[in-house]
This record gives sequence, structure tokens and C-alpha cells, in this order.
Amino acid sequence: MATAIADIEVIPLSDACGAEIRGVDLTKPLDGKTLKSIEQAWYDHLVIVFRDQDISNEDQVRFCRYFGDLEDVRTGKFANEEMRHTMMITNVTDTGFQTALENGDMWFHSDQCYYEFPCRASTLYAIEIPKVGGNTLFANCYAAWETLPASLREKLDGLKARNIYDYAGNPLKRGDNIDPDAPQYDHPVARTHPETGRKALYVNRLMTDIIHELSEQESDETLQKLFEHSEKPEFTYEHVWQVGDLVMWDNRCSMHARTDFDPGERRMMRRITVKGEDVR
Ligand SMILES: [Fe+2]
Repeated sequence: MATAIADIEVIPLSDACGAEIRGVDLTKPLDGKTLKSIEQAWYDHLVIVFRDQDISNEDQVRFCRYFGDLEDVRTGKFANEEMRHTMMITNVTDTGFQTALENGDMWFHSDQCYYEFPCRASTLYAIEIPKVGGNTLFANCYAAWETLPASLREKLDGLKARNIYDYAGNPLKRGDNIDPDAPQYDHPVARTHPETGRKALYVNRLMTDIIHELSEQESDETLQKLFEHSEKPEFTYEHVWQVGDLVMWDNRCSMHARTDFDPGERRMMRRITVKGEDVR
């Protein structure tokens, strides 16, 4: 059921996570009260969606800055100062901007889980979308953690897993021969969200390769079980994009995946991320 907070409307998009926010024009600066309501909706729903936004890069930068300092693009190469935080996630090669080439489907992951301080928020703005597919699935990692058997939670709480950026350009496969120099970081299997105080499962199919304290076999079996559990439809919301959607998700308590789409069609998203903090 939709709820009106201050002057905005928050409409849940699924039982798992996701809410559409209405009554906001992101081409304009936001007042403190509106911002507070948006922030609360973000904590409550993990993923927030603004439809029909006709926003520039500058507008997206301004919106993201409300939530913290922005990250520079990973490569450190950007077209100009205004684009230093902007990456095009696309299968189009002629954008003229820093581009992450991404085609087809992609396994569940949490952005930058291979860094010590993964970004807290990611935003994507839809500029071009394929007719079918290229949807983004979001999973609620609080729910995934909270619904594990108590005995398993007890066993896993406090353990650490390695997250590594090494999928050899294939987002549907973890590397067999892990490159020791690939970006990687050990994070707790369950982390406590610094704002909500809730624990969230923090392992994902694309980038988590071992739980250190377990034997290799037990780690493999446990991770497989955790992946299958956390990706269940009851914990996920599938976002079907429209041009003009601005979506912001919380990487501390959600993960996401992409569904397949026709490589002959153009898909172009503008991504800006907000720097993270120490989460244990
Ligand atoms: Fe991602």
C-alpha cells in the first residue's frame, strides 16, 4: 500500500524490496524534509526507483552527493572533470565516455565487494534499453540472512569470506584459476548495516569464492546453499527498466543480477556510485 511521507509517495514494488518514489523531480535540488523521507524509504526498501526523470549527468551527481562522497571511476580515466564519477554501463561502444562493456545476463553480486570499502550506494539511470530483457534483479540480503536456520546463522556469524574480482570477463562463471593479483577482500559472511543495525548476508555467486574458516569442500557446499537460498524469488524484486528510470540501491544489504537481452539491441545506463564506509 502506498504511503505518503512528507510530500512524496512511496509505493512498494514487491514483498522483497524495492519502492517507487513519486512526487520528486530530480532536475531540481531537494529540500531537507524530502531528502529525509527519501533516505528513510531507501533504508526501508533497499532499492528506490524514480520514474520518468529527464536528468543530466550533473543532476545525477547532485542527487548522489546527498548520500555521501562520490567515487571516481575505477580506471581513473574520464572524459572531463564533470564525468569523473560517471561510468556508462552499456553494450554500445561509441558513447565517448568511460564505458564498462556489458552484454547479456550477469550473476548476482554486490558492487565492489572485492574492496575494503565497497560503495554504499549505486545509481543507474536508464538512457537506452532493449525491448525485452536486460532487467535487474535485486535480492534482499537482510531477509536472506534472517530466514536461514538459526543453527546455520550461529555457525556463520563471525566467519569471513573472500570476495574477488576475477571472472575473466564472463559474468556467469567464477574463475577456476584465481589470479592472486585480482582485486579481493575478506568480508564477514554477515555484516551489520551501519544505519539500520540489521544483519545482512554478504556472499554472492559471482564474486565470493571461499569461506576461510571452513574446509574447501564445506565452504563450497555452504556457499552453494547460501547462493540458492538468497536468490529465491521470495527475496527478490525484478526491475523492468523504462527510459528515464533512476534507481538507487544499497550495496550493504542487497545484491543484484541482470537478465539476458538481445546483444543486437542497445542498452545504456549511466552509473554513479557513493563511497562506502567500514562495515563489519
Ligand atoms: Fe553491479
